[in-house]
Amino acid sequence: MIRHCFRLMVIAALSVLITACASAPEQSLYEEIGGHKTLNTIYGVAITRIYTDPVIGHYFKGVPKKHLRDQLVLQTCELIGGPCEYDGKTMLESHTGLNIKEREFYILVEYVQGAMRDVGLTYQQENRILKLLAPIKYETVYL
Ligand code: HEM
Repeated sequence: MIRHCFRLMVIAALSVLITACASAPEQSLYEEIGGHKTLNTIYGVAITRIYTDPVIGHYFKGVPKKHLRDQLVLQTCELIGGPCEYDGKTMLESHTGLNIKEREFYILVEYVQGAMRDVGLTYQQENRILKLLAPIKYETVYL
């Protein structure tokens, strides 16, 4: 009888464990990389380099660094499953009239990629973020 009860208790404990594992919410990429703090560091590092770049730096004359950084953090946060809602201008609104060239787009993306590497993201995390940023190219270049 005692053995039977013990067996039942083990089965009950195991089923609780299995149910808990099955329903554990999957971690978002946002959470995985360390959330707001990590994104804020990435864009802080990238923006310092972007603003002083000899080819693309001129585009950002008069654009407040803090504003751009906050908007980029918000936008990427939303893209990678964070609890944010981007409320800035649309990409077409903010880039139309700048006549950004394709190679200039890649210069900017390389700064973002370099910053992600510098703060310690893995290649896989880096690529998952870049994949989500890539389609934005068509809303920023030759407009
Ligand atoms: C994946 C690529 C890019 C993303 C995700 C991106 C994102 C953004 C965001 C979120 C803003 C702020 C919009 C707002 O003020 O509400 C912005 C503004 C701006 N972006 Fe980009 N951008 C990208 C590529 C580029 C490139 C390649 C350039 C130039 C080389 C550029 C130049 C600018 C400038 C100058 C502004 C400020 C516009 C203004 O306030 O009038 N962006 N961008």
